[in-house]
Amino acid sequence: MSDQRALPAIIGGSGLQQMPNLKITERMVVDTPWGEPSSRVSVGNLSGQKVLFLARHGDDHDIPPHKVNYRANVSALAQLGASHIFAFNAVGGIHEDMGAGSIVVPNQIVDYTWGREHTYSDSANVALQHVEFTEPYDAVLRKLLIDAAEENHSDIVRHGVYAATQGPRLESAAEINRLERDGCDLVGMTGMPEAGLAREKSLPYACLALVVNAAAGKSQPLISFAEIEKVISTHMPAVQTILATACGKEFAIHPQLNR
Ligand code: HPA
Repeated sequence: MSDQRALPAIIGGSGLQQMPNLKITERMVVDTPWGEPSSRVSVGNLSGQKVLFLARHGDDHDIPPHKVNYRANVSALAQLGASHIFAFNAVGGIHEDMGAGSIVVPNQIVDYTWGREHTYSDSANVALQHVEFTEPYDAVLRKLLIDAAEENHSDIVRHGVYAATQGPRLESAAEINRLERDGCDLVGMTGMPEAGLAREKSLPYACLALVVNAAAGKSQPLISFAEIEKVISTHMPAVQTILATACGKEFAIHPQLNR
């Protein structure tokens, strides 16, 4: 494996339909056994490093969280030779330390989604895999993100439990209270099944989350989409810088064990 070159991939979520500093050389239409990915995959140069970029909700941001073809997205990146994935997710903040504008590198997930195509192991032609998922995110990649934030003088929250909800509606206050009782700090709609599928493909995966609103019932007044837009435009440059710095860092390829 050591002679293989690392090829980072970024999956961009709401607010990150493209990476502004990515010098795109090609936009690849990728056909996968699982159907079409959300968008063409941009291949380009970021911080002197070849990088792949995929827009999770499509180029026009018109694919809702429950309709994203997560299997095709992860498969397309694996087919193009990605060695690891940095996922960007906009989230709501549950924990008081994770207010709007916080940038978080979560370390755990609770999956509340349902009805999504969430595994590659679902047909007679595919060998059944029960993947190990105790630590859903890759420790090396999480450290690269944290180091990248610190190098760029961005405040970063180093841990958090990500609750993946079904969407596309936001939650009720009682639902958020329940997630909090379950130990969740952040809530978003796209963290799963993406992380689990990356594990099935043995692709190291980590998430950089931007808190774009306080979760339901955690602030007065109600959640405002205009405010969310403001938070995204204020904090997205820092997110892009962290991702670019992390992609430019050396990464010794270590396929994530999937036993
Ligand atoms: N809930 C779920 N997903 C989200 C939220 C939220 O409050 N904000 C951004 N994505």
